[in-house]
Amino acid sequence: MTKPDIRPPICDYEGSNYRTEFWEGKGRDYEDQVERIALRRMLPKNGRRLLELGAGFGRLTNEYHMYEQVVLVDYSFSQLQYAQEKLGRSGRYIYVAADAYQLPFRAGVFDGVTIIRVIHHIADVNVALRQVRRVLVPDGKLILEYANKRNLKAMYRYSRGLQTWDPNDLQPVEFVELNFDFHPVYMQQRLAGAGFNTERSMPVSFFRVGALKNHLPATLLAGLDGILQHSGFHYTPSIFTLNTATGASPNNLETDSLFVAPGSGDELVKEGDTLVSTRTNQRWAIRDGIYDFKAPIDE
Ligand SMILES: C[S@@+](CC[C@H](N)C(=O)[O-])C[C@H]1O[C@@H](n2cnc3c(N)ncnc32)[C@H](O)[C@@H]1O
Repeated sequence: MTKPDIRPPICDYEGSNYRTEFWEGKGRDYEDQVERIALRRMLPKNGRRLLELGAGFGRLTNEYHMYEQVVLVDYSFSQLQYAQEKLGRSGRYIYVAADAYQLPFRAGVFDGVTIIRVIHHIADVNVALRQVRRVLVPDGKLILEYANKRNLKAMYRYSRGLQTWDPNDLQPVEFVELNFDFHPVYMQQRLAGAGFNTERSMPVSFFRVGALKNHLPATLLAGLDGILQHSGFHYTPSIFTLNTATGASPNNLETDSLFVAPGSGDELVKEGDTLVSTRTNQRWAIRDGIYDFKAPIDE
């Protein structure tokens, strides 16, 4: 009997035009620039292997040049195809279609993880963060960006009765299906519960206001944002956090055998263009240079 699938629902970007409909020529140069400023402040000088979780089409991947290897994970196969078109097929980049709730990696194979603009789609933050902690080495770094429900616009709207949900309430708000904003205290608690110590937290995107963005150059606003990121004023729509994995856990950073079966953790062996579980014989395909762990091919 197969086990019922109890994974939370996934915000599926398969086949979406996220790159062209949200980013390219869509007046979001400012957001892109401020996120890069924040990231650069938190990234280490060098690293062995980074997991970019929810990498999308690889918008930010070129920021991770200090890592020897970058593993791009996304649930959307088509987003990874875009990323591969841009970044190529060298051994430096590994492309993996997989679910954040069931990462197909051996414990402790990464010394860094970034999650940018992704956790706002995650209905069960605890499960996803525990998966991330599992695949990190002790003292590994997690840079997590989240959408902040306690932002100035939401506070104003709530005070004027223009919105029903309270930005000071700790629980996440699902403002559109599978789109969540989080309270900073809630996220801090979830991170601690999953085995992370938050070293740094930075407010980002102070000027995400159409009237300003339409009239002032993105570089000017981004420069000002970069200064304000040091302010400690956590009332912006986006927050970047730098977290360290605490406690004892395996360190498999030197292994080349990254993959295990998602969920079960069974050992896998490569057979042609597939990875096969040595215990159940289930298979996952490698298609167009992308490891596809979304579902076994015999299901
Ligand atoms: C808004 S995009 C962000 C992409 C990229 N990080 C960026 O900032 O440009 C969110 C991405 O998260 C991915 N995603 C959502 N839920 C996921 C899950 N459960 N597992 C893996 N990826 C997921 C989506 O497929 C999508 O590509």
